[in-house]
Amino acid sequence: MSSEKILSLIDLHVNADNTPILKGISIEFEKNRVYAIVGPNGSGKSTIAKAIMGFPDYKVTRGDILYKGESIINKTITERARMGIALAFQNPPVIKGVKLDKFICRICRDCRRISDNRSGRHLGEIDKCTPDLTEGFKKLLIENLKNRDINDGFSGGEIRRSELFQVISLKPEVMILDEPDSGLDYDSLKLVGRTLKEIRNSGKTTMIIITHSRYILEYLEADKVFIIEKGKKVFDGDKTILPQLEELGYKEFLNRNKLR
Ligand SMILES: Nc1ncnc2c1ncn2[C@@H]1O[C@H](COP(=O)(O)OP(=O)(O)O)[C@@H](O)[C@H]1O
Ligand SMILES: [Mg+2]
Repeated sequence: MSSEKILSLIDLHVNADNTPILKGISIEFEKNRVYAIVGPNGSGKSTIAKAIMGFPDYKVTRGDILYKGESIINKTITERARMGIALAFQNPPVIKGVKLDKFICRICRDCRRISDNRSGRHLGEIDKCTPDLTEGFKKLLIENLKNRDINDGFSGGEIRRSELFQVISLKPEVMILDEPDSGLDYDSLKLVGRTLKEIRNSGKTTMIIITHSRYILEYLEADKVFIIEKGKKVFDGDKTILPQLEELGYKEFLNRNKLR
């Protein structure tokens, strides 16, 4: 596996609503590896995801974010998405009037190609999923959601699986998943775990996974595990820490193992 850097957070400071949330985080992500970001509630994990994606409410006040060596902090969310970064939200919004299958067809390059070939037009005409997408709906058990407005009345598990599928359809180079396992029952957890492992094994995606699930992280064989606490990276290790972390909890684990 190459050890080429793809994404770097450099002394990243981020404010939300004028309040400092991230207080100097430096992390290097290498191409096609799997990273876990863990930490207590409210420590800043989702803020890292949103800052990488470029949400305007999250202001970088110091430091930088480099993607393939280029600073992206002045780029819009759309520009970052086009460059190959995708985020599955922890709490995605309901989008009334937009059907899940139509939306997924719009963001999926292969569907766009089918449509372009057929009609010679770009977007607007997309009404057909590729066989891969049709299969994907089936595999993630979300066929029943195809014709529904996005997230409208979806259960917690359905939201997670639909978010994951949207991100997969983008075929990003860097995939950020914010608690892809929250609210999942055992069977869905396995399904999501298996799907993530397939992506890992295909070796074409850098995965940054924010989670509390030891199951997902051990199953996925995360290459590195970072612990975030109060807006700082306070531990940098590998998946072998997970049993101890689960047993001791963050507070005690960090008392014994904190960086510096
Ligand atoms: N838009 C915002 N405005 C004000 N405070 C925010 C905003 N977003 C997040 N925060 C605060 O930043 C802290 C970290 O939040 P978050 O990154 O969501 O934590 P985590 O994902 O680790 O649970 C929390 O105290 C949260 O209330
Ligand atoms: Mg969060």
